[in-house]
Parts: sequence; C-alpha cells; structure tokens
Amino acid sequence: MPGTSDTNDGKHPVELGSVQETLFIPLAARARESVKKRPLLRDPKAVEMIRAIDYPAEKYGPGPGSAVTVLRTTIMDSWVRAFLAEHPAGTVVEIGTGLNTRFERVDNGTVHWIDLDLPDTVALRRKFFADTERRRTVAASALDEGWLRTVEESPGPYFFVAEGVLVYLPEAEVAAALTRIARRFPDALVAFDTYPRRLLEKQHQQAVQKQMEARWAWSCEDPRSLERLGLRVIEAASVTRPPRAVRAQLPRSFRLFLPLADRLLRGLFNLTLFRTAPRPD
Ligand SMILES: C[S@@+](CC[C@H](N)C(=O)[O-])C[C@H]1O[C@@H](n2cnc3c(N)ncnc32)[C@H](O)[C@@H]1O
Repeated sequence: MPGTSDTNDGKHPVELGSVQETLFIPLAARARESVKKRPLLRDPKAVEMIRAIDYPAEKYGPGPGSAVTVLRTTIMDSWVRAFLAEHPAGTVVEIGTGLNTRFERVDNGTVHWIDLDLPDTVALRRKFFADTERRRTVAASALDEGWLRTVEESPGPYFFVAEGVLVYLPEAEVAAALTRIARRFPDALVAFDTYPRRLLEKQHQQAVQKQMEARWAWSCEDPRSLERLGLRVIEAASVTRPPRAVRAQLPRSFRLFLPLADRLLRGLFNLTLFRTAPRPD
C-alpha cells in the first residue's frame, strides 16, 4: 500500500473538507454490505480502507440509507459494465470519486479510467490507489475546465459518472459543468443521481441532527429538465426501481425490501443515464 504515514494505531489521519468527508457514507455502506453473508456487492478494499483510516465511519450506521447507497452504486456499476461491453477500451471518468472502487469492480483489463476529485480527497485516495497506464487520478474540481483536456487525451468513447456528488454543488455551476461536458464530448454517456426538493429539505434536517456540516445544494424534480443542457435521457431508474439487469441479481433481503421501499420512497432517489448530442456533421 503506497504512503503509510501514521497517527492513532498506525491509521491514516483525515483532513478533509466537509463535503469531501461525505465520501465515508458510501464507503461505510459498501464495507458493511461486503461482510454480509449474501451481499449485493463485495468490496474488500472498502473494508480494508475503513479499518485503515482514523475516522468514526460507524456513525453512518446500518439501515435503509445504507441499502439505498449500495443499490445506487450497483445500478451505476451495471451502466458502466454495459458501456464496457460495447466499448471495452473506452474511458470512464469517475467524477467525485471519493474512495470509490468501481474500477476494481468492473475492470475488464482494457478500460481507461480517470478518477477525479478535489485535492484533499485525492491526497487520501492516493494512500490506497496507485495510477497505472490505464488509470489516472486527477485532483481538480468538477466545476473547473482544465481536467477536460486530460479526458480528451484518453481514448473515447467516454462515460462520465458522478455518484453522490453533484447534489452538493450549486445548481448554476452544475449546469455549466454539464453543458461543458456535453459540448466537448459529443455522443458520450453521462450518469448521475438527482433528488427532489423535499429530500433536500430532509437532508438538511438530518445534517443538523447528525451534526454534519455538508449540505445538499441542488435539487432536481425532473431529470428530463436537464435535456436543455445538451443531454438526452437514455434510461431513467430509481433506487427502488432498479433496471431489470440489477433486479435479476438482487439478494433476497433486497427483493423483500424493495416493494415497501418503493411505496415509501418512490421518486425520491433518481438515477439517470444521459447521452450527449452527436457530433455535428
Ligand atoms: C458522497 S461522496 C461520493 C464519493 C463517491 N462518488 C462514492 O460514491 O463513493 C462525495 C464526493 O464528491 C467529492 N466532491 C465534492 N465536491 C467536488 C467537486 N467540486 N469536484 C469534484 N469532486 C467533488 C467529494 O470530495 C467526495 O469524494
């Protein structure tokens, strides 16, 4: 494991901004899922990282939130796998990657991969992940422009994935970033999660209760409204209504949980796969 600077019990210290710290929410969910008898996904590296980092990730306890998070990740994984089945040597750009291990889950031996996040997150990430010929880590804000050139240097076609990220960013800046991607990368896939206003309000209440600083900043009632930015909806899913390919692989506990969850949470946790406009003739 590269870089083993130490603090408590030899664990890696954490010095992250408040939004960056939210990377522990999906990380803890994947680690917890991985040690179940019949998990939806296995992520041994998440288990390893949780143990190796000096952070009280147990505060993101088990429960429906954890199930929602691993379902979200599984849906995104399935979209990326489908892309790689068609374009085995294309480039996947993981925007706001945190300590995500999607590459580890879907690597087909030929994909090109860019993991992008803010500098402090990337500094932590580099303690656990090394770049290779096919895999690069970039320290930049998704809202900047410079990193798009790094993407262009990697072979197309392209798939931009942002999971649990854009919701923390201001709407106008998200719109500008998506518009830039759509203009610079014709015929690319883009996938991210969106949440309506009432869930944003709930997140703000929960953040107060849990003494979390990070607040969602952007809500979206209807992902189709984003087509104005140069994106076309290819597939709309929700965490409680996963695509058929994902439904087929759900462990029994999730199959039992989903109908009730769908009644309670329908329309709240949306995932959308978009395609950018084709290259003009
Ligand atoms: C909830 S975590 C999600 C992490 C990862 N996508 C996952 O699912 O495991 C949010 C991530 O967004 C990153 N982030 C926040 N603002 C960002 C920005 N402006 N540009 C790039 N990444 C950002 C944070 O550093 C953090 O890693």
